[in-house]
Amino acid sequence: MSLFDLQTPALVLDLARVKRNAGRAASLARRSGVELRPHVKTHKCAEIARLQTEGFSGALTVSTLAEARWFAERGFTDITYAVPIEPGKFGQAVELARRCERLALITDDPDIPAQLDEAARRAGITLPLFLKVDCGYHRCGVEPHAPEALEIPRRISDSRNLSFAGVLTHAGHSYHCTSQEEVLALARHERDLMVGFAGTLRGEGMEVPVVSIGSTPTVCAVDHLEGVNEIRPGNYIFFDAFQATLGSCRFDDCALTVLASVVHRDRVRRKVVIDAGAIALSKDRGAVELEPSCGYGRVLDVEGNELNLRVDAVSQEHGQIRVEDEATFELLRVGSRVRVLANHSCLTAAQHPYYNVLEGERVVDRWEIQGGW
Ligand SMILES: Cc1ncc(COP(=O)(O)O)c(C=O)c1O
Repeated sequence: MSLFDLQTPALVLDLARVKRNAGRAASLARRSGVELRPHVKTHKCAEIARLQTEGFSGALTVSTLAEARWFAERGFTDITYAVPIEPGKFGQAVELARRCERLALITDDPDIPAQLDEAARRAGITLPLFLKVDCGYHRCGVEPHAPEALEIPRRISDSRNLSFAGVLTHAGHSYHCTSQEEVLALARHERDLMVGFAGTLRGEGMEVPVVSIGSTPTVCAVDHLEGVNEIRPGNYIFFDAFQATLGSCRFDDCALTVLASVVHRDRVRRKVVIDAGAIALSKDRGAVELEPSCGYGRVLDVEGNELNLRVDAVSQEHGQIRVEDEATFELLRVGSRVRVLANHSCLTAAQHPYYNVLEGERVVDRWEIQGGW
């Protein structure tokens, strides 16, 4: 099958690039002596998880319990659910933990250890629980100098049915950097803060089995990982227009595009409209701090070559593209096809039911994407 045989919009996965991206992160983890626990929220796909954990233990990070269940059913049973746990999810987590070799949870709340300990005691299991640390993103996590940063690990360690899994952070603020020098400084800060904080906890007599860090920009930039036990990058497996603009990768490392058809053209307004809008691409604004006019994605031809166009506006199922150049406008007739390199591949992938796997010019397979919560 070729790209002209697919119904549009459709996700297209360049297998050679996925393998190359997987290989680079695997080499970094091996040469740094750390566990690779990729965040599978990026792809939610068992075949891709198998590719990226080849030669590793198969440990994964997930962002929903539905993902955890789905991957556990497909043989991945060492999972960290990396969103803070709340009591409404204790039942599901306990049920899942029974079916996993290891399901680790995270918290930054002083009340959670006692409540979770009670739920684990009633279920007759022991749950590993991480302290979520804020290394500057300010989304979730406790700051290392806050009193809870010592109090929560103590409460976890003192619980009968919890084990203290270690410290975990995510440097999501790296997405707002404006140069690779800034990303490198931030990556060093993420690592040094976490290694230093683990040292403080150890100095207090606590065992800290794991120091877990990771975001794609910081993992791509970091100079060494001494003192760190595991990395959890997610986006690196596809990359996207955002990461390439930030400098985490090259544009030809980006593995995921959305195949779309031209459904309308307007010579007077110098625009064409494609059948990929906000649902097919996502409304992520991209690296606007670096490229204010990045729109909702870069427009490529079917072979993947740049057309130097952006998806300038989206509504639910329409994407509008301004086309000044006459030769390009001539190419983009109704029914012709383009591929869009979207701003944020994780959000794009999550809206589709499957990947069309491209090897060379052939679509060789279709891989299912887990959906829902
Ligand atoms: C807790 C956590 N860990 C790891 C990641 C992976 O980050 P990235 O997709 O930048 O690699 C994320 C992404 O949101 C996350 O929230």
